[in-house]
Amino acid sequence: MASSYEKFEELIRQEMRKVYTEIAIDHALNPRNMGNMGDADGFGKVTGPCGDTMEIWLRVEGNTVVAASFSTDGCSATLASGSMLTELVRGKSIPQALGISQQYVLDALGGLPGDNRHCALLAVNTLKEAIKDYLTFKREPWKRTYRTY
Ligand code: FES
Repeated sequence: MASSYEKFEELIRQEMRKVYTEIAIDHALNPRNMGNMGDADGFGKVTGPCGDTMEIWLRVEGNTVVAASFSTDGCSATLASGSMLTELVRGKSIPQALGISQQYVLDALGGLPGDNRHCALLAVNTLKEAIKDYLTFKREPWKRTYRTY
């Protein structure tokens, strides 16, 4: 017999199915790679025009992203985008990671509603900031001394 929590989750899923794909729902309700990464090699933080913020941490070894995590105060679509993006970027070289587009994330999620397409863009823009941060520290490692996160 389903618990009241399971029934509640099913109700939420039913509502979400009206606008989101099953993949997007899965990533929104069970986000992968969430949370602050200690001693990251790259960090990005971007606030989109809607006021939502995303943070992304990267661990890079030999020019390959070996791990990524994220945090956001955004909506379900933002959660799904951050979750999917941090999955997609793992194993990519830095040039490949820079090539990840909003459409690539949208396609991986099976699409997002029109009003939420910008959530995937927020994730991609935050990734670009994290890569920029990584490249800056790679060129000028002494700047790590001043990093506050
Ligand atoms: Fe703006 Fe999701 S509503 S990032």
